[in-house]
Amino acid sequence: MGDRRECGAGRAAVRFRWKAPVPRMSLLLSGSLANAAPALRLSQILSTLSHALDMTEGQPAGHCVRAAFVADRIGAAVGLPGPERRDLRYAVLLKDLGCSSNAARLCQLYLADDLGFKRDFKRVGSGLPEVLRFVLEQTGAGADLAGRVRAVGHILRHGGEISRELIETRCTRGASIARRLRFSETVAEGIASLDEHWDGGGKPSGLSGGAIPLFSRIALLSQIVDVFHRFGGPRAALEETRRRAGRWFDPSLVAAFQDVVRDGTLWDELAGPEELLIPLEDDPAERVDETYLDDIAQAFGDIVDAKSPYTGNHCQRVALYADMIGESLALPDEARRRLRRAALLHDIGKLGVSNSILDKPGRLDEREWSLMRRHPVQSRVILSGLPVFAEAAEIGGAHHERLDGRGYPDGVGGSEITPLTRIVTVADIFDALTADRPYRKAMSRAEAFAILDADRDTGVDREMVAALRAGVDRLERANAGVDVLAAA
Ligand SMILES: [Fe+2]
Ligand SMILES: [Fe+2]
Repeated sequence: MGDRRECGAGRAAVRFRWKAPVPRMSLLLSGSLANAAPALRLSQILSTLSHALDMTEGQPAGHCVRAAFVADRIGAAVGLPGPERRDLRYAVLLKDLGCSSNAARLCQLYLADDLGFKRDFKRVGSGLPEVLRFVLEQTGAGADLAGRVRAVGHILRHGGEISRELIETRCTRGASIARRLRFSETVAEGIASLDEHWDGGGKPSGLSGGAIPLFSRIALLSQIVDVFHRFGGPRAALEETRRRAGRWFDPSLVAAFQDVVRDGTLWDELAGPEELLIPLEDDPAERVDETYLDDIAQAFGDIVDAKSPYTGNHCQRVALYADMIGESLALPDEARRRLRRAALLHDIGKLGVSNSILDKPGRLDEREWSLMRRHPVQSRVILSGLPVFAEAAEIGGAHHERLDGRGYPDGVGGSEITPLTRIVTVADIFDALTADRPYRKAMSRAEAFAILDADRDTGVDREMVAALRAGVDRLERANAGVDVLAAA
């Protein structure tokens, strides 16, 4: 059996037959969950999924939602019309779409826990001594002395260039995902310039003053308001915005923010239920159809895949393998669609695991392993925020369970594991075995199937393994056909 990050040892298990009347079968075939999709609103879906972005940035759940709410109030105070305020809210809600793309590099360069580093860095000001102190404290915090000295030396020599690269990667990637999610260029540009500062000291382009897109200026201010409000309350948020006015922030926007605070109930609203911060306008542009929901799942699968170089395209391939199993089992198209979405999102909780663990070349110690084992729980928590993702939440939460009850996080087994979950589990293990990992090289398909075969009935469902094998055979025959045509 492979590393226990992929699957574990097993013993006799309760067999599941595809035709057996397990409780979830009715959902599998009826499509009742997917029928809820047309009633969904974009703001609800993206607000729910933004919790995954919060985790990646080491922020408390709801950070992006609260920042978008603050931005909306500032937008109203400066007289932005309705459609522009809608765009502004999305630019801020999705400001961290690219956050996973620099996590591995940050971890590698600073020898630090990316989640803690990102969380704490948001509270560091722009003054050189402050930044330097933070970098020296954080760099190589978990490494040995020699590693720390090397890392600190490297950062001191190339610090400016490194932070510019990290920010550019994040912003460019975030803007590109926003475009794929059908948002306007104004939204994409707002995300791309999030880290530019009013005085020109920001990154990646060193824009200053009015050359910085308005949405970016409001996004940066709103982000800091939420970070300091959560950390130190209203006074801390107000002091920090005043302190950075004219350096990080557009002074006129800071004044508008102070007006919002004076006139309203901002702090009470921010401390209240999150659902009250999400606008529910009856706007046709807010309605999400099935194709749009597919695109959203695809985009967030990409965000998860970008977190680690070792899991690049993992979610995309798991979705492909799961769909091949679905095809072999002749599942209805609609069930296959839900299966693909769930497979794309199954590891969304990994965004809350540090790259110092995900990319570790050796075995995980007990503490690291216990953090790793939390990722299905985090997938479940995020996805259970919306009824349309209820099934994906169940699959995400249980994709490391085993039929014999020796999996994680809950140790459930047998008929407690749903058919769609069993499909994703087999697809997940097969991909993990056939891809390079930090702790071993990729296995051949034959080796991977030998491992899956040995774990049939104890860890994984034999019917799903057979269905995957049939799918892989079909794919290989199709590829052979293409080769023959190409050679002709
Ligand atoms: Fe996983
Ligand atoms: Fe996975």
